[in-house]
Amino acid sequence: MGIRKIRVNDDPILKRVSRQVEVFDDRLHSLIDDMKDTMYDADGCGLAAVQVGVLRRVIVIDIGEGPIELVNPEIISAEGEQFEVEGCLSLPGKSGITKRPMTVKVKAQDRNGKWCQYKGEGLKARAFCHEIDHLDGHLYTERLIPEDAAKEILKELETE
Ligand code: NI
Repeated sequence: MGIRKIRVNDDPILKRVSRQVEVFDDRLHSLIDDMKDTMYDADGCGLAAVQVGVLRRVIVIDIGEGPIELVNPEIISAEGEQFEVEGCLSLPGKSGITKRPMTVKVKAQDRNGKWCQYKGEGLKARAFCHEIDHLDGHLYTERLIPEDAAKEILKELETE
């Protein structure tokens, strides 16, 4: 267990595509445990392995319901849309409004290689999409909506 260094800003690794996990061994388990420690230490609700410099398709998420570990995750369906403020531990001090699906279904392997399915709605759907994007080298800043539309949405969010 341990806290790993989070790669930030222009670190070129953040743009790279992560590889499938094929070996479900102790090394993978330590990576997952360290990722959870690192996520909690940084007060985040999700983390992808690439953010700690490991190009493997592994993400961890905790939106306040306990940790979920996903290995080789894939979005198998997406419905609806949502516009919410999003940030990233790799882009400290920044945030922006993105368009994401309202609900997603995800399939992934657990730390021992067993396939499972997950459903996410609202914040959880956003977390799945955001972290899976990291595995393909994408950051939320590529999903930002235009500034004028963002201002309108911020106004609505403030009056809610
Ligand atoms: Ni992120």
